[in-house]
Amino acid sequence: MRPIGHVRSPHVKHTDVPKGLGAKHVAEGKIVVEPEYEQGLTDIEGMSHLFIIWAFSELEGFSLLAHPPSSERSHGVFATRSPRRPNPIGLTVVQLLAREGNVLHVRGLDMLDGTSVLDIKPYLSSVPPKELRRGWLDEAEARQGSAS
Ligand SMILES: C[S@@+](CC[C@H](N)C(=O)[O-])C[C@H]1O[C@@H](n2cnc3c(N)ncnc32)[C@H](O)[C@@H]1O
Repeated sequence: MRPIGHVRSPHVKHTDVPKGLGAKHVAEGKIVVEPEYEQGLTDIEGMSHLFIIWAFSELEGFSLLAHPPSSERSHGVFATRSPRRPNPIGLTVVQLLAREGNVLHVRGLDMLDGTSVLDIKPYLSSVPPKELRRGWLDEAEARQGSAS
């Protein structure tokens, strides 16, 4: 695999990215696609939201158990969004605001500036909300709700 582009984000340091339960990702920025792949963006303007598949950089190793800031205990890495995973691949849903040639203006970034983008796909979900179960995240949110 090789990157198809990169992210231009206002997040420069890890501490710039909102974290924890209820964190809102509203940062606006750009997905800059390499000109050689621009044709692959044909008709993307009609999509309101996109999956951005990207690479965590500068990470060494992984841990099969992760302790998210939102939880009071550890969970299997595949039940979390921890960056420290066997294949350091990130997935973020962004809102597409506009397209200018090979540049997508988007909202909802949680990646650092300069992050390599591996792929872009339209956000499609056919799972009815009432069938969605979110396991420990629902429990953590319920705990937070009862504490506040
Ligand atoms: C918990 S991860 C979740 C990322 C993505 N939404 C996902 O589910 O795969 C988000 C964190 O990744 C870190 N991060 C963002 N861009 C990164 C990059 N290029 N390399 C390493 N870590 C990064 C930031 O500290 C951010 O708080």
